[in-house]
Amino acid sequence: MQDQFDSGGTFAPSFDELEHGARVAWRNNNRCIGRLFWQSLKVFDERGLQSARDVAWALYRHIEFATNEGKIRPTCTVFDPSVRIWNHQLLRYAGYVTENGILGDPDSVEFTRICEGLGWKENRTAFDILPLVVQVHGTEPKWFAIPEDLIVEVPIVHPQLSRFDALDLKWYAVPILSDMGLEIGGIVYPAAPFNGWYMGTEIGARNLADSGRYDMLPRVAALMGLDTTSESTLWRDRALVELNVAVLHSYKSRGVTIVDHHTAARQFERFTQSEREAGRELTGEWAWLIPPLSPATTSIFHHQYEDVMILPNYVRQPRAW
Ligand code: ARG
Repeated sequence: MQDQFDSGGTFAPSFDELEHGARVAWRNNNRCIGRLFWQSLKVFDERGLQSARDVAWALYRHIEFATNEGKIRPTCTVFDPSVRIWNHQLLRYAGYVTENGILGDPDSVEFTRICEGLGWKENRTAFDILPLVVQVHGTEPKWFAIPEDLIVEVPIVHPQLSRFDALDLKWYAVPILSDMGLEIGGIVYPAAPFNGWYMGTEIGARNLADSGRYDMLPRVAALMGLDTTSESTLWRDRALVELNVAVLHSYKSRGVTIVDHHTAARQFERFTQSEREAGRELTGEWAWLIPPLSPATTSIFHHQYEDVMILPNYVRQPRAW
């Protein structure tokens, strides 16, 4: 009976309540296509940690446990409400503004500057893993480099197009969201990093393809020898498909869990059905559930979803910085 209050003096859920809450928060998250597996979420209760260093160690453990040498395990680590992680994801590539445009991930430019301001030293490659930035009790944040042996990355190669290697692309194995709050029973845990595994299109149709991200479609089209002088050759679409083939092929051949969007959409249908059987109303956000590649080939495209927010949930919160 001693652990029922957190550092802020508010009533704190038991471990079982926390674990169930974190799982139901996943089940309730309208933007997630992967919710069929909500009951498998592994929850680490680290609400007792007070120092930035201890939090960083728990984050290393999260990365290692979740990665599991490629057999990715959905995981959530919950910290005391006084903890805040400044990273968007635990693993993420830096982005730098240079004379010749942006090097690395344009999405990380601002956060990369913050890391540099804190004293982090970059390598200046297109794929520098950013450090963890941890803040406790509103004090000055501290940065921690992630040990290299914890980081699994996948070089992107194509099963037929050998020239693909020359693009020198890779991506990290596990997407671990770390800037969303976990809201359970009226308490928001601002630091509750969680992960599933990737759906291929997140990497192949967004991270590596968006013109505001790694912008690889023109280079993929070039190595495929496509005619890019007219949009109506659909060179972007053809390049996009091969880039996505490469992502799925690369993760699979390295033994890193990944799901294609057709399989994920079918799993989501099963989720829809199991929620119906459990007597629960399904909620969802259509624009996020449909995959960015060939959406109309999945059943999700042809359904409507009620976009109502049910708690517990993973919630957006203002930037920490
Ligand atoms: N879309 C984000 C990214 O590409 C990751 C979001 C969470 N994705 C997931 N499969 N759990 O990095």
